Amino acid sequence: MAKLGLNVDHIATVRQARGGMEPDPVTAAAIGELAGAEGITIHLREDRRHIQDRDLEILRHTIKTKLNLEMAATQEMVRIALEVKPEQVTLVPEKRQELTTEGGLDVIVNAKHISDTVKRLRDGGISVSLFIDPHQEQIKAAHKTGADYIEIHTGKYADAIGWAAQSHELDNIDTAIKLARKVGLGVNAGHGLNYTNIKAVTALGGVEEFNIGHSIIARATLVGLDRAVRDMVELLKYA
Ligand code: PXP
Repeated sequence: MAKLGLNVDHIATVRQARGGMEPDPVTAAAIGELAGAEGITIHLREDRRHIQDRDLEILRHTIKTKLNLEMAATQEMVRIALEVKPEQVTLVPEKRQELTTEGGLDVIVNAKHISDTVKRLRDGGISVSLFIDPHQEQIKAAHKTGADYIEIHTGKYADAIGWAAQSHELDNIDTAIKLARKVGLGVNAGHGLNYTNIKAVTALGGVEEFNIGHSIIARATLVGLDRAVRDMVELLKYA
């Protein structure tokens, strides 16, 4: 069975729409954990469009499972991570104009900077995961940085239309999982996964944790967060 890392960014998106205090991602994280999530993921973006520094600080004290902080590999974010000490940092690329994270890190081109960042975080006692596309060369480069995990970017699979395109992307994910495990990397996956497309990915096996946000929060607006999390945890039993 794979673990669910519940991403609560979009609870904060709704709060920020009015600039007030509700809904609170801290409350959402607690409900998510009670419903079976085994980790809480937040992305502290440089523009603070959803999660705020205050959320990170409070969640550090309230989360009972595992705090996974997604962040860009910048000086500011590394300083914050080393102060707050989440159990895991997932390094992601970040562009201000994007609606959401648009692709994986280019670990080949940015090898030195990413390796230095991985070392600083690991020296601070934080496990490091690199969000990358399911490409073999990226996985080999990720391994060389000393990272503990990769998170396979499943966005291209989620966006693929039609069986042929989907199965092509699934094959890439499958090859990536196998190669990463062979070289000793732990494997997480996420982006664009929902209650339908998750099934083929869990069937591949080999993924420890799925980081899922949008589809769960979207379902929660209609059926409630407790039910939405339980429904996803149930699907992950088949991994
Ligand atoms: N993993 C990473 C690295 C992400 O940046 C995101 C989006 O914040 C997710 C997983 C979750 O994606 P989604 O909201 O589409 O489930």
